[in-house]
Amino acid sequence: MALFNRANLNSLFLLSHYYYKFATVTVRLKTRERTLLSSTMMQEKIRKSSEKKTESSNVKSNTFETAIANRRDQACRSILVQVYSLNSQDDLQNYCAQFGNILSMHHYKKDKQHNHILVEFKNIVSVNEIISSASFMDGDLITPVKSSVFWFRKGQLRHKKNNQKKIILSTENGCTYPTEKDILKFLQNAKSVSGQIIKLYEILKLSDLETRLRFHTAHHLEQYFSRLFQNTKVLPFGSSLNGFGRKRCDLDLVLVSDNIEEVNIYTYIKNKSASRLVFHTKPMKLSERHETKEFMRILASVMQHFISGVHNVRKILEARVPIIKFHYEYTNIECDLTTTNMTAVYMSELLYLYGEIDWRVRPLVTVIRKWAKSQEITSDVPGQWITNFSLSLLVLFYLQQKDILPSLKLLKTYATHDDMRCTETGIDCTFLRDLEKLPAEFKYKSNQDNLESLLYGFFEYISTFDFHTQGMCIREGVPVRKPSRSALHITNPLETTLNVCKNVNIYELNRITEKAHDAVYMLETTDKSRNSNWGLMALLNMKENDIMDMVDGNKRKEQSISDYSEDYSHEISEVNEVDINQPKKKKTDII
Ligand code: GTP
Ligand code: MG
Repeated sequence: MALFNRANLNSLFLLSHYYYKFATVTVRLKTRERTLLSSTMMQEKIRKSSEKKTESSNVKSNTFETAIANRRDQACRSILVQVYSLNSQDDLQNYCAQFGNILSMHHYKKDKQHNHILVEFKNIVSVNEIISSASFMDGDLITPVKSSVFWFRKGQLRHKKNNQKKIILSTENGCTYPTEKDILKFLQNAKSVSGQIIKLYEILKLSDLETRLRFHTAHHLEQYFSRLFQNTKVLPFGSSLNGFGRKRCDLDLVLVSDNIEEVNIYTYIKNKSASRLVFHTKPMKLSERHETKEFMRILASVMQHFISGVHNVRKILEARVPIIKFHYEYTNIECDLTTTNMTAVYMSELLYLYGEIDWRVRPLVTVIRKWAKSQEITSDVPGQWITNFSLSLLVLFYLQQKDILPSLKLLKTYATHDDMRCTETGIDCTFLRDLEKLPAEFKYKSNQDNLESLLYGFFEYISTFDFHTQGMCIREGVPVRKPSRSALHITNPLETTLNVCKNVNIYELNRITEKAHDAVYMLETTDKSRNSNWGLMALLNMKENDIMDMVDGNKRKEQSISDYSEDYSHEISEVNEVDINQPKKKKTDII
């Protein structure tokens, strides 16, 4: 996925930096003659947009941890307010300004009726004051728990005059999702396959507001949990963070509960207090599976009964990593919560870094994920097929073969003392974090293939790879002799004894290679000048007539999504992994 804006800004910043370096030494390898829009033109376009965005933002550091810390801080300084309509903005600004300076206001519609404004204050003190001064809803019996999500009561409160200038909405009607028809239009207007890939990436990537809302969701849960347990953090990870996220992708969250030093939640440094008085507490061994399950059972109940916006809580406690699935009403997003799963956070960081190293990585992963979905190679339901995560690793491995990405071994070689990380279960997650410290020969690559060539090359590579005897190893950056009997072997980069594709059976692997083979043929034969359904439109099976049918179909789907958003169930279900996607039952509305 997805991608938070700062990550985008950073990648764009790096891109612009690389662009200037490349401009003097670039040797353009013209690998495929059909390319109409040169990659330089695209780089120039992105560079300009990067310059514009970088000027308007205040990016100080580009490491993953700093980006997360900034986003978390932003979430702490923000409140989410449900308003009657967009016209309430002035009123809301006047009201909120009495608590302090407002930095930004973002508006979005969850559906046709529900309007929300995310208000970002300059100081967290303002949010604390708002929380202290806000009241609970009159009438019905409610669980009186305070948080930074509010209703804005209409016309009942008088506000003081303030001197702050009118805030221009940073986003109006954000969180809209492109239909297949919109995507088709964009693709039709592109000038080349490489251009189409860039456009697809731009349309599908997470916007700044979407990223803010993802961090806000994490913060909302954290507000509750930290009242129960000291120093509890809820961190997003997965595609919402690593830059491969697309709109509407799930939100992966991890709850980290330990007395970890405030300044660096990642390094697991124990808080060494000077106090001689130590709290009496109960032992909690989250490393033991049954304790984790029990703890998550309790969390699930708390979430279902007390946390506003959380619905349809499902506990998947028998999975390898136990998770709590739930629907977050305010953003209409499906979320997965796990505990003590720092390896997954570091894995997201590694994928993020690979995305930062070269500007072509994220657009390429996006188009390949989209292709896989269109060919039903991946699915939202877990099973014996490849996941988006494993597919992303496959793309990264291919880019290592193209000398575009370095091996993890190399990133480990250049790691400094500051990069040392170890998870709660002792997994070494040390690798270079600051890409500025990567030697020039790894930063400025001779491979200048455009996106179209890389996409074509990817399909060619996997349709001819010897999966029977070989596995892929991102740590080493080269194919390895397959160490297991699994049909597909991609070594987990951080835990090299594990295969992230253990679940994939031979039937699914054969489908992947066959579809890749078809894709090679399709890219060779779709010609823009002779075919209106060219390039990605052919590859992703997007035809205008079909799209019209899909639009109708989507309307039906939209209907069921809004039904779902009204599902105020108070039932918690415990399901096996296979049952996760059973149809949701309609429940009575409690508001
Ligand atoms: P989408 O949600 O499909 O957009 O992609 P994602 O990358 O977020 O994948 P997913 O939600 O399935 O998993 C979230 C994160 O958990 C991944 O980014 C990985 O960091 C981690 N993860 C997922 N599957 C595996 C796996 O099989 N092995 C390991 N070690 N980590 C995994
Ligand atoms: Mg995910």
